[in-house]
Amino acid sequence: MLPRVVVHNAVSVDGRIDWFTPDVGQFYGLASRWKEDATLAGSDTIYNPEESTTEEEDESLEPPVVEADDTRPLLVVSDSRGRVRNWLQLRRAGYWRDMVALCARKTPQAYLEYLSARHVNFIIVGEERVDFREALEGLHTRYGVELVRVDSGGTLNGILFRAGLVNEVSLLIHPSLVGGTSSRSMYRAPDLITPGGVIDLKLTYCEQLENDIVWLRYEVTE
Ligand SMILES: NC(=O)c1ccc[n+]([C@@H]2O[C@H](COP(=O)([O-])OP(=O)(O)OC[C@H]3O[C@@H](n4cnc5c(N)ncnc54)[C@H](OP(=O)(O)O)[C@@H]3O)[C@@H](O)[C@H]2O)c1
Repeated sequence: MLPRVVVHNAVSVDGRIDWFTPDVGQFYGLASRWKEDATLAGSDTIYNPEESTTEEEDESLEPPVVEADDTRPLLVVSDSRGRVRNWLQLRRAGYWRDMVALCARKTPQAYLEYLSARHVNFIIVGEERVDFREALEGLHTRYGVELVRVDSGGTLNGILFRAGLVNEVSLLIHPSLVGGTSSRSMYRAPDLITPGGVIDLKLTYCEQLENDIVWLRYEVTE
C-alpha cells in the first residue's frame, strides 16, 4: 500500500522556484493543514554544511523520546550518497518527532554506521539511488505513514511525478515572472518523447490569498 503524496510548492507564475521571494510563513502555515505523517525532502534541500555537527557535539545525541501521542510528522530525507550531517540541528528544530534517511545499497557503509550511532533511522531501498516506490511502501509498512507532504524542488518532484507516485499538487502562485533558461522549475525531468507523458490534473481548490498570491490545488487524475 502506498501513502497519499502531496507536492506543495511556492512558485512564480512561470513555475520557477528561485529568484522571487516566497512568503515562507504563509507557505508553512498552509502546509501544516495537511497534518502529514511524513515530510519528504531531498538531500539538496536539507544538506547544510554550516550546520553539520562535529563528532564531539554528536556525542550528546541521545535517542529521541517519542511519546505515543506525538502528532508531529517524521522527517524523511533521501540521501543515497550519505551527505547529510546536520541531523542534530534538524532534531533540535523540533518540527519532527523522528527522522528517517532513505539510502540505497550503494550508500557507503560508513554513512550507515554514522546514522546508527546518531540514532537516525534508515531504510535501504534501491541499488544506486533511492527507489521511491519501495521507500513509500516501507514508510507505510514500518511507520504507518498514510500521508506524505513533499518539501522539495523540481528534481525530487520530477522523479516522483514520472514514477506516478504523486496524488495532489498544491501551488502558491506568486505574482512574479522569472524567466531565464537556468532558473529552476518545480518540475524537472528528461524531455518527453510523446505527449503521452503529460500528467493531467483536475482543479479541486482555488483561493486568492494576501499579496496577490493564488493557492491552487489539483488532483492527479491518472
Ligand atoms: N519553492 C518551494 O516551494 C520549495 C520547497 C522546497 C525546496 N525548494 C528548493 O528546491 C531546491 C532543491 O530541490 P531539488 O528537487 O533540486 O533537490 P532536492 O529536493 O534535495 O531533491 C533532490 C533529491 O533527489 C534525489 N535524486 C536525484 N536524482 C535521482 C535519481 N535518479 N534517482 C533517485 N533519486 C534521485 C537526490 O538523491 P541523492 O541525495 O540520493 O542523490 C536528492 O535527495 C532548493 O533550492 C530548495 O530551497 C523550493
